[in-house]
Amino acid sequence: MTMLDTSDVAVASKAPWHDLFERLLAELDRRATPAGHRDSAVEMASLDPAIYRDAAHFERERARLFRRLPLCLGHIDQLEPGSVLAREICGVPVLLSRARDGEVRAFLNVCRHRGARVLTEQDVVCHRQSLVCPYHNWTYRLDGCLAGVPRADAFPGLDKARRGLRALPSAVRHGLIFAVLDPDAGPIDIASYLGGLDEDLEAIGMGRHRFYRQHAVTRATNWKLIVDAFLEVYHVTRLHAGTIGSFFHDSVSAAEPVGRHLRYLVARETTGEIRTLPAECWSPQRHATMVHLVFPNSVIVYHPDYISHLGMFPTAADETLFVHTMLTPDRPADEKAETHWARSFELMDTAVFNGEDLAVCEQIQRGLSSGANDRLLLGHLERNLRWFHGNLAEVAG
Ligand code: FES
Ligand SMILES: [Fe+2]
Repeated sequence: MTMLDTSDVAVASKAPWHDLFERLLAELDRRATPAGHRDSAVEMASLDPAIYRDAAHFERERARLFRRLPLCLGHIDQLEPGSVLAREICGVPVLLSRARDGEVRAFLNVCRHRGARVLTEQDVVCHRQSLVCPYHNWTYRLDGCLAGVPRADAFPGLDKARRGLRALPSAVRHGLIFAVLDPDAGPIDIASYLGGLDEDLEAIGMGRHRFYRQHAVTRATNWKLIVDAFLEVYHVTRLHAGTIGSFFHDSVSAAEPVGRHLRYLVARETTGEIRTLPAECWSPQRHATMVHLVFPNSVIVYHPDYISHLGMFPTAADETLFVHTMLTPDRPADEKAETHWARSFELMDTAVFNGEDLAVCEQIQRGLSSGANDRLLLGHLERNLRWFHGNLAEVAG
């Protein structure tokens, strides 16, 4: 029998957000003092508006970020066995499929005959036995294999085994579907990619959450303006004054980089309560709002009783597909629960995200080329943006 070192126990039982909560409390105390609102140690910074509208810059991002890095494309639960979902992601026609074996796969939604879209219905989950290309009816199984070719005599020597749908490297982790938009990329290891955030997702039980609803909408804004909006809380009690602003302290947060990702706690009115609670009861949903940035384009917001996953998929420098997926701890058990989740989704998706955050992002985009600002200013409360754009500059140039 080996002796158990009690310090090991303490380390093992510590939640990944424990230290950040300590910092959040300290920040709350500091802001309560008269001098606490001055934060002169951090200098101001600024951003070049061109990063949001320059076409060549966007092409670099597309090549170096969106074609190379694993992107979160959805949740396993939204696809029952025997269903498919086609969506254009960053200019790439993608097909997610869940065959009867239960496995989720990602393919290019491009026929191996002459390249037509195999599944033409976009952005809706379709139940299918097989996939029939509308042009000449080549037929594929949901696992991507080419199953049938009409008038096969016209293709002497065709090796059907080599003409299945092109697969994209993909993996499911914590219920989230990740893929790389390059069929020639190697296999992906999402646990390694997430690094320290993998532990957060495990601790919060992301894998046990269920898909509730998803809304995908194209908005006239650069994708980074949307990410920026979720990296600072300076605006929360102001822009969201009529919706969720009153749940939060004014601009009290604590953030820490996790590789290129970010873990981030925002103080709610209930944060102070944790002073009387043991650390194992500190909840990153009840006593704060935790936010993760999964580099480069996923934001996960942990609301008190559900989770929002936000995917920003640019189609051009000034246009982004915004996909909001709501995940709940359980499927709604009855009508009352369904009404509750439906109201939550309506508030967050329609009123807050689309009605407030994205509306401002579109306004910013339209004003970028007006000549009003040579630089966009970042104050002390927006330091996460400085960090995010620094990472982007390193990866995308
Ligand atoms: S392009 Fe699909 S069957 Fe011809
Ligand atoms: Fe916001």
